[in-house]
Amino acid sequence: MSVPTKTLIVDDEANHRFMIRTHLEDEPCYEVYEAENGQEALDVLAQQSIDIILLDMKMAVMDGLTFLAQARKQGYMTPVVIITAYSTVRNAVEAMKLGAVDVLSKPIDMDELLALLGRILSNTDQAEPSAECSTKYSFPGVYSEDGLGKVLDLLEMVAPTDASVLILGESGTGKELVARSIHENSPRSQGPFQAVNCAALSENLVESELFGHEKGAFTGAAATKKGRFEVADGGTLFLDEVGELTAGAQSKLLRALQERLIERVGSTRSLAVDVRIIAATNRDLYDMVQQGSFREDLYFRLNVFPVELPPLRERPSEIPLLAKHFVKSSAKRFNKVVSGCSDGFLHKLCNYRFPGNVRELENLVERAIILCRGEVLEEQHLPQLQENSSGESKGSSEASSAPQSGSIREQQRRLIEEALEKAGGNKSQAARALGIARRTLHYKIKEYGLE
Ligand SMILES: Nc1ncnc2c1ncn2[C@@H]1O[C@H](COP(=O)(O)OP(=O)(O)OP(=O)(O)O)[C@@H](O)[C@H]1O
Ligand SMILES: [Mg+2]
Repeated sequence: MSVPTKTLIVDDEANHRFMIRTHLEDEPCYEVYEAENGQEALDVLAQQSIDIILLDMKMAVMDGLTFLAQARKQGYMTPVVIITAYSTVRNAVEAMKLGAVDVLSKPIDMDELLALLGRILSNTDQAEPSAECSTKYSFPGVYSEDGLGKVLDLLEMVAPTDASVLILGESGTGKELVARSIHENSPRSQGPFQAVNCAALSENLVESELFGHEKGAFTGAAATKKGRFEVADGGTLFLDEVGELTAGAQSKLLRALQERLIERVGSTRSLAVDVRIIAATNRDLYDMVQQGSFREDLYFRLNVFPVELPPLRERPSEIPLLAKHFVKSSAKRFNKVVSGCSDGFLHKLCNYRFPGNVRELENLVERAIILCRGEVLEEQHLPQLQENSSGESKGSSEASSAPQSGSIREQQRRLIEEALEKAGGNKSQAARALGIARRTLHYKIKEYGLE
């Protein structure tokens, strides 16, 4: 390794820091930084691009878990090794959820630590929680296990069926991307996917747009035209912004959904159509039903399987993943050499509430790419952003609860074994039960030889 590995030791006991520092500095490749508590550690992260963190759990000012939660929230995805004398199952699992790569118990065996650091550093990709493409459900976007990952688990179940899906979510949360992915993961994937923007359908256009018309059916109908239902036959019809349909359009749509038959305007012949319906809206449809502005019977037809996409501010772990994803795609599109973003850039994004959700993040990255003259996006490439005032991270201070028998590693191993056993060997299920990413589970299985 020619570039030194910047290692941050976070521990409130000076002699522990000193002991680790001297051992690491005996090796040719470590550059060591120290912090006495979580708060100081966040300051170091803001100033240095740290490669790996050795983190004590129990510290007076900001304990290890709180620090880890804060750091992730601020976009620092640096691999972390937890070093602790206090072994509770709870904090071992909490730490894994936050992407800690490993947990070592005190007193530290320095050879073990060095071997572990070597393994992690040669495998940094694996250590970083990132876009996971390992599910059976293939999704073209990026996500994390505790964010959109949870929604994808539901989609994996509903996609192969013919059930109508209603996608709910604020503007820009990815409703259309999700709708397309349901189609792509369904047995209809070889058939057409037709997206209709219901907000653009006026009362007198809706019938001909959805069901088509015969030549001469009305003034201007110069030729026979198929409607969206017919075009989508054998595939999926995506009714976007379905909450915007006028009352007349709602009743015409309801009839088609009930009977699965349509008639072109100007024709008396009924045509059978075989379409799967996916609808989306950023309105509160249920509330609209209560208010009388959306038909209840249509609501129940559409709402067979509701899927709610959380706003981006509720899945902060995805902000850095999405940012990096958009850097890649936009740099290519604008023919720029930009290859990454600085910690400061990510930090600023992670502190923003994103009223416009993923679309707004995409736009911010695009704008930054255009402004950037170098290879890395920096804070100054972002406009003034309103800081996220709400939502302190809820770190846990469980570290002080009574120690349980066995080392943390043993406990962790036992926990994983039990979860795998309960899940009959199904790793996805076991990971879900443990509340950790599949990727983390795979890493642990390999490490503990549980294969
Ligand atoms: N998880 C993701 N990974 C990558 N790109 C994403 C993801 N989610 C959304 N996007 C991108 O963000 C943009 C907005 O997504 P989309 O159009 O699907 O949102 P929407 O909910 O339909 O928005 P609107 O309500 O404004 O119509 C698109 O360019 C989409 O490709
Ligand atoms: Mg949309």
